[in-house]
Amino acid sequence: MLGAVQTACFVMAAVGAFYLLNKRHEEYDRIFVKGGVLVGAIAAVLQLFPTGDVQGKLIANHQPVTLAAMEGLFRSEMGAPIVILGQPDMQNLKLDNPLQVPKMLSFLTYRIWSANIRGLDAFPEDQWPDAIPLLYFSYHVMVGLGTIFIAVMLLAALLHWSGKLHSARWMLWTLMLCVPFPYIANTAGWMTAELGRQPWLIYGLMRTAHGISPRVGAGNVWFTLIGFMGMYMVLGILWLFLIYREIELGPDPGNPPAREESIAVAAH
Ligand code: HEM
Repeated sequence: MLGAVQTACFVMAAVGAFYLLNKRHEEYDRIFVKGGVLVGAIAAVLQLFPTGDVQGKLIANHQPVTLAAMEGLFRSEMGAPIVILGQPDMQNLKLDNPLQVPKMLSFLTYRIWSANIRGLDAFPEDQWPDAIPLLYFSYHVMVGLGTIFIAVMLLAALLHWSGKLHSARWMLWTLMLCVPFPYIANTAGWMTAELGRQPWLIYGLMRTAHGISPRVGAGNVWFTLIGFMGMYMVLGILWLFLIYREIELGPDPGNPPAREESIAVAAH
């Protein structure tokens, strides 16, 4: 839900930034930018703490092998580090070029610096998620983008409070160019959840491989999949077109808010 709020905030702030940079509808875009940035800053922080933090603890308790794969932790460790960068090497079961913060994973998970975190080696290989590198990268893309969102939104909020946001063109450009990234972060989050639950359909009880319907042939599945892809592509293109048209049209020119009114609306 916070992912959706953040996305909406980035879109709102970006539309406002676009109007400000183009000197159009300036009486409205102050509401867009201010509203998007202030709510976005709160949502970005809440996404990391408490919600992201709580999600992480839930996974540690209920899907420990998923946590190990997400974090690229191949061996169990007391005082396990958190990995900022690095590539999982599935041949040699290690992380290449790691950039880590020592003991941080243990602390974040159990609030104890020396706590033992079970790595992939603590679990039978047939219980490991199937696509560990993709899972690892999805998770790191989501958290990396989440961290960047916090920085961008807090900086924009600070500029707003010091009264400099509307003249800081570099920040308006940043807000505008950030629009695709919340969509990418949401997709990466969804991939983390779905790849992380593999190889289970019902965790620990029923494997995905046992969930197939023997009566549905591969051709049927391809047909449905391609049909859905086509439908979503049409909807996506239509959506882009409609959004573009709405932004070009701008807010209703017949009823611009007075300066005081716009501040009251934003506060509300
Ligand atoms: C700021 C740091 C973040 C942390 C620590 C974090 C942590 C997590 C964790 C642990 C999961 C659970 C994966 C699972 O259930 O297996 C998750 C899922 C998810 N995250 Fe994040 N996340 C962060 C940022 C973000 C951002 C910025 C977005 C989007 C704007 C996002 C969107 C999602 C989505 C859509 C899911 C999937 C939920 C589901 O399908 O159950 N996350 N996140």
